[in-house]
Order: sequence, then structure tokens, then C-alpha cells
Amino acid sequence: MRKKIVAGNWKMNKTYSEAVPLLYEIKDLLFKSKKAESVIKIIAPPSLYIHDFYETTKGLKNLFVGAQNCSYEESGAYTGEVSATMLKSVGAAYIIIGHSERRSYFKETAEELKKKTEITLKHGLTPIFCIGETMEKRQANEHFKIVEAQITDSLFHLSPADFQKIVLAYEPVWAIGTGLTATTAQAQEMHHHIRSLVEKKYGNAVSSEISILYGGSCNEKNAAELFACPDVDGGLIGGAALKAKEFIEIIHSFPA
Ligand code: PGA
Repeated sequence: MRKKIVAGNWKMNKTYSEAVPLLYEIKDLLFKSKKAESVIKIIAPPSLYIHDFYETTKGLKNLFVGAQNCSYEESGAYTGEVSATMLKSVGAAYIIIGHSERRSYFKETAEELKKKTEITLKHGLTPIFCIGETMEKRQANEHFKIVEAQITDSLFHLSPADFQKIVLAYEPVWAIGTGLTATTAQAQEMHHHIRSLVEKKYGNAVSSEISILYGGSCNEKNAAELFACPDVDGGLIGGAALKAKEFIEIIHSFPA
């Protein structure tokens, strides 16, 4: 059985005094929800809040704290960087890698993302590896090719044992923060394509178990139809993860 996962990417939002009450609101709603228990829930706040979030949410079933990025270096003279081991030491269990905002604004390359994935796995954390095409590439009918290259270039050197630890997140760049969601047909088509690529490379035992999340303007209104797609195993949520009720409603959106 594939894991059902909802991950909230808080991005660079909320001061500490805003973040704490929001976390408590989410925590209270999760405590009251039996339905949410079986879903893996990940909250990825700005990294300086991770330790607090970890301490505050201890004891909540299937709730994990994640980071939005990490260094590809182990440690040392890299001013401003945060390492995977540091993130682990304050309670992070997941690290989002290769988000399109990191790829475009911070010019992260396939080679760097490969190293980030390796270091994350090496230290026993789970990468949530993001892939997705721009609108320009979709209109040029190159979306399958782009996504395939992103996976091949950064992940397909991994052993099957390592690859199966990864969570993939398909996030069409044109849908992120825009209110433009992929249709269920577009999401299912791409998720199925991704699963087929994994099957071709690693076989059915790995491809049938890997969770592939959808991200890009996923909210409490469209989550149920997206999560009902056979190859969509949950969501990576940006804007709607910053509103407690909406975030919980998304967690409640898996088919029974
Ligand atoms: P969004 O962001 O839900 O605000 O579109 C998703 C993401 O960037 O992961």
C-alpha cells in the first residue's frame, strides 16, 4: 500500500510570533481528527522554526517536520548554509529538494540536486524531490521530456534501495501559486508517466510503492478530485498550508 502524504511547504512566510499560533491551530485540529491519523503529514516551516515545531508536535500520529532545502556539503566553511545533519539534529525527517523556486531563483542545477538527494539519504532523511515543467515547455509539448530529464539527471543513478525511500512531487511550475491547477486528467497523465519511468528503471516492486504527490494551487476545493486519481498519492501544498482549516480539509480529502 502506497503512503498517503500531505506536505505543507510554508516557504518564507510567517514571523515566529505568527508561526507558533498557526502551528497550535493545526495541532488542535489534528488532535481532534481520527480521519487524519492514517495520513502522513509533513510541515516544512522556515528552518529556524524546525526544532520548536518538532517539540510542539511530538506525539501527533504520523506528523513529521521537514525542511525546505539543505546544503549539498556535509559541514564546514559554507557561510549561510544549513546541512542535512543539522536539520536532522533539530528534528527534521524530510527535506524538500529541487523545488522550482530553488531551481529558478537560486539556479540550482541537476548536479547540485543530485548531491542534495544523496546527502539527505545518507543521513537517513527522506527527500521530497520536486519535478515539473514550465508553461512554455507544456505548450511546446515538451513536458514529458523535461520531467523525464529532471528525474534521470538527479535520481536515476540511485540504487533501487535508495530510490524507493524517496517521495516524488510533480509540481507544474505554471500551477504554483497561480491559482491555475492542473486538471485531474493532466495530473493523472503525468503521474502515470512518472510511475512508468520508475517502473522501466527499477521494476514494478519499486514503482508501485513510490508515493508521487501533486503540487501547484492544490487546495481544499480541488484536493479530493486530485487525490482520487489512481497515481496521485497526496499533495505538496503551499498557500493553503498556511490556513489551518484548509490544510486539515486537504488532509481529509483522500478517498475512503
Ligand atoms: P501553491 O505552492 O500550493 O501555493 O501553489 C505549491 C508549492 O510550491 O509547493
